[in-house]
Amino acid sequence: MLIRPWQKEDNAKISLLEQQCFSDPWSKEMIESAFCQFNFLGFVACENQQVVGYIGGQSLFEDGEILLVAVDESQRGKGFGKSLVEAFSTALKKKGVEKIFLEVRKSNFVAINCYARCGFLQIAERKGYYSNGEDALIMEKKL
Ligand SMILES: CC(C)(COP(=O)(O)OP(=O)(O)OC[C@H]1O[C@@H](n2cnc3c(N)ncnc32)[C@H](O)[C@@H]1OP(=O)(O)O)[C@@H](O)C(=O)NCCC(=O)NCCS
Repeated sequence: MLIRPWQKEDNAKISLLEQQCFSDPWSKEMIESAFCQFNFLGFVACENQQVVGYIGGQSLFEDGEILLVAVDESQRGKGFGKSLVEAFSTALKKKGVEKIFLEVRKSNFVAINCYARCGFLQIAERKGYYSNGEDALIMEKKL
């Protein structure tokens, strides 16, 4: 397993994984636009030189946010998700970020477990946040 910074050349593969992993994926344009933001930070997980997972987010002063995380379905349960969240957290801590936030579907127990394993705690709930009416959990990790 290799975790390395997300580069522009990764955008096409990441968009493909995003379409495969979510019912409401970010479009390629949304991903490219996020990547170009001055405060964007992202990492990819590679196996046999192929990108199999990614994490992307942003930070502003003491706050950070995870916007995108997924691992190729065939590669899940091998620690990639946890390593990506940890790489992101470590990099933001070095930049002086104190807290990282994220939103996750209430039904997505695998992702919730993964974030909890990485030190995130549920701090709030947003009713009907997603387009299908599902609630979101807001989770926070103090760095
Ligand atoms: C959420 C996701 C990124 C986790 O990635 P992963 O590489 O499979 O996760 P890891 O192997 O690093 O496992 C991390 C933790 O998640 C939990 N987990 C992983 N697979 C699980 C499963 N099948 N059932 C329950 N919990 C599970 C465990 O707590 C695990 O920690 P542990 O092994 O120390 O017990 C991955 O499942 C995924 O891409 N899901 C679809 C996209 C998605 O929902 N993204 C999150 C949007 S908010």
